Amino acid sequence: MKTVILIGALGKMGQAALTGLGRHKVITAGRSGDVDHLVDITDEQSIEALYQKVGHFDSVVNTVGFCEYANFTEMTEAQWMTTVMSKMMGQINLVRIGQKYIADAGSFTLISGILNVKPIPYAIADATTSGAIDTFVKCVALEMPRSTRINVVNPTVLEEAWDVYGEMMPGFEPVPGKRVGKAFERSVDGFLTGEVIFVDA
Ligand SMILES: NC(=O)c1ccc[n+]([C@@H]2O[C@H](COP(=O)([O-])OP(=O)(O)OC[C@H]3O[C@@H](n4cnc5c(N)ncnc54)[C@H](OP(=O)(O)O)[C@@H]3O)[C@@H](O)[C@H]2O)c1
Repeated sequence: MKTVILIGALGKMGQAALTGLGRHKVITAGRSGDVDHLVDITDEQSIEALYQKVGHFDSVVNTVGFCEYANFTEMTEAQWMTTVMSKMMGQINLVRIGQKYIADAGSFTLISGILNVKPIPYAIADATTSGAIDTFVKCVALEMPRSTRINVVNPTVLEEAWDVYGEMMPGFEPVPGKRVGKAFERSVDGFLTGEVIFVDA
């Protein structure tokens, strides 16, 4: 049994990830609500405080990455920066700061999303930052200290989120959260590192 910090635990992707972590002691974290620890992934001090409060942990699973949605021609720099500071830098900072605290041979699992390989309108910031995270994981895996592994789950839309995103995504087939949970399980319990684990229908 590993100690896993699950960030974004109350969100739809967090609940999907949770289905794959049944064998472990899961410490939940998020920005609000009934979680073990509050954290804001856009705030370095908040991330540092989370790791210090938890103490020993073997794995970090992050499912947070807030994105703004708009046409490229209308998207403001502020909307770009909001997305970059959450989905890209927020996740990079979770790893940059967390690598000092994580147990030997631990693992990080990040979140991206299928829109960087299957683009749709309005999702340019999500697609761009998802692509950045996929690249970050593939490359930083080569530099991780103390046998730390790192992977990213790149899923298509969840069945549980189809009511929100379905209209934006004609021709896509949603997948059940439980299937995406298996991808998180492979990352945490397997031996993969530097992998983009795609879950598509
Ligand atoms: N849903 C899908 O089908 C799907 C598919 C592929 C990829 N993804 C990706 O998965 C990620 C999560 O999506 P989701 O559908 O799970 O969203 P969600 O249901 O809206 O959940 C997001 C969770 O993250 C928390 N959060 C937001 N900003 C935070 C911050 N700065 N620090 C800490 N926690 C924060 C939210 O807390 P509050 O309640 O306080 O806002 C909420 O609990 C996104 O990057 C999305 O692109 C989603």
